[in-house]
Amino acid sequence: MLGNLVKNSLLHTPDGGEITVRAASSEGEVVFSVADTGSGINEEELPMIFERFYRTDRSRARATGGAGLGLSIARSLVEAQGGRIRAESERGKGTTISFTVPVFTEVDR
Ligand SMILES: Nc1ncnc2c1ncn2[C@@H]1O[C@H](COP(=O)(O)OP(=O)(O)OP(=O)(O)O)[C@@H](O)[C@H]1O
Ligand SMILES: [Mg+2]
Repeated sequence: MLGNLVKNSLLHTPDGGEITVRAASSEGEVVFSVADTGSGINEEELPMIFERFYRTDRSRARATGGAGLGLSIARSLVEAQGGRIRAESERGKGTTISFTVPVFTEVDR
C-alpha cells in the first residue's frame, strides 16, 4: 500500500520536493498518509483517480506511465479490510492520500 502511494508521489514530484509518510493512531484505527509537494491533481479529476485505468492527461503523456490501476487496487484492499481511502490535492501544490486500517483488540474478537 505505502509503496504504491510513494511510487505515485515520486513520479509526480519534481527534484527538491518533499514526500512525507505518516502513521497516526486514532480511535479504533490507524491512519496512514503519504503527502507530496508535487504537481497536484485538478479538482475535477480528483474523484476519478480511484477508478480503474484512470490517468490524468499529464501522466498519460509520460513515456514511463503506468496502467492507472494502482489506486483502484489500493482502494479495493483498504475497503476489503474495512478501511477508507481519500485524496486531497491542490494543483501545483501537492497531494495527500490517506487511508485507515481498523484496529481490533482482543475484546473485539
Ligand atoms: N501523488 C500524485 N500526484 C499527482 N497525481 C497523482 C498522484 N497519485 C496519482 N495521481 C494521478 O492519478 C492517476 C491514477 O493513479 P494510479 O496509481 O491508479 O495509476 P498510475 O500510477 O498511472 O499507474 P499504475 O499505478 O497502475 O502503475 C495517475 O495516473 C495520476 O494521474
Ligand atoms: Mg500508480
